[in-house]
Amino acid sequence: MHTVSKSLNTAVYKIEQPEGPLTKADLKAIAECGRIIKEGGLVAFPTETVYGLGGDALNGGSSEKIYSAKGRPSDNPLIVHIADMDSLESIVSEIPEECRILAERFWPGPLTMVLKSSGKVPKRTTGGLDTVAVRWPDDLTAQQLIRQSGGYIAAPSANISGRPSPTAFKYVLEDMDGRIDAIIDGGVNPIGLESTIVDLSGDRIMVLRPGFITNEMLSEALGTEVVTDPAILDPECKDRPKAPGMRYRHYAPKGEVRPVKGSDEAVREHIIRELALAKSMGKRTGVFCSSEHASGYDADVIRSAGSLDDAKGAAHEFYSALRDMDDENADVIFVENFTDRGFGQAFWNRLLKSAGSKWEEIK
Ligand code: TXA
Ligand code: MG
Repeated sequence: MHTVSKSLNTAVYKIEQPEGPLTKADLKAIAECGRIIKEGGLVAFPTETVYGLGGDALNGGSSEKIYSAKGRPSDNPLIVHIADMDSLESIVSEIPEECRILAERFWPGPLTMVLKSSGKVPKRTTGGLDTVAVRWPDDLTAQQLIRQSGGYIAAPSANISGRPSPTAFKYVLEDMDGRIDAIIDGGVNPIGLESTIVDLSGDRIMVLRPGFITNEMLSEALGTEVVTDPAILDPECKDRPKAPGMRYRHYAPKGEVRPVKGSDEAVREHIIRELALAKSMGKRTGVFCSSEHASGYDADVIRSAGSLDDAKGAAHEFYSALRDMDDENADVIFVENFTDRGFGQAFWNRLLKSAGSKWEEIK
């Protein structure tokens, strides 16, 4: 078995063929990790969105361990990961028609559905709620691990609370080495942003956290308009976000994040001016921008991602860029005007959270 031990406490299992087919050695490593979870231990594993920090969802003690490994408040519920439809039946009190339609269309995939709980999943996993958030991930390693662990893995993102979600193995190691039993190294996550969460437990179907599956995709599948929880789009909104996790200030790097909106040229000129000003004040500067514009900036750390209308590229690089900025001690981080339409809504949502809900609009 290809175990590369990085610390005394956390075993690392590297997957040879994350895209499949999983090799014999891969299956053996995953079986070993499944055993760890069944026995109440914690294993971080890849998914198509970000790495998850997995424990047995039906074991309240495992969930407590997850909260403490992350340093996360225990009223912030965990997503239960499954690997077939039959597993869904016993943990929810009913499967609404909309759930079947969305499962048919988007599972396995980056969509989490909030449903009424049957009570089988302990309250320590659901953060005391009567609902349960469920996702069937599209990653082969994740699916195999779920099957080997007894069918239900509770997993938040595998970062220390308040740090960006880990989008590659090295970031999981950075945050979790010595805190959990094992990490499965499946390389870089294809999407790099957490799943869309849609609430099907109330009177109105609502997106609680935007993600790769957009409102348009959900609306089209259901034949009815699906809106996003207004509390997460408008910083002025008086209501609290319905997903407990969206109430916390997440993903905040040490430096100040300054998103800039406006026409491409105006944004560029503004950032160039502000970079010079920040430098003159002795600050360490960072920029997250399109690859076309990267060479035009004079900053200490420059991270670029595709073009401004490509939210997928931006989302994929964003969390790792924020971690880089921290490593380089950037005091101020300017972010260019990437699209906020379609999947761009999810990117803009995470960007705003990292910026403490403020941005600069350049006319
Ligand atoms: O892509 C993902 O969803 C990743 C991978 C690992 O699957 N997981 C993830 O988990 O992002 P986490 O714990 O970082 O975020 C879960 C979010 C939190 O905002 C939490 O409050 C919300 O889901 N949530 C969980 N159960 C809920 C429920 N019953 N009702 C409303 N929100 C819920
Ligand atoms: Mg998270």
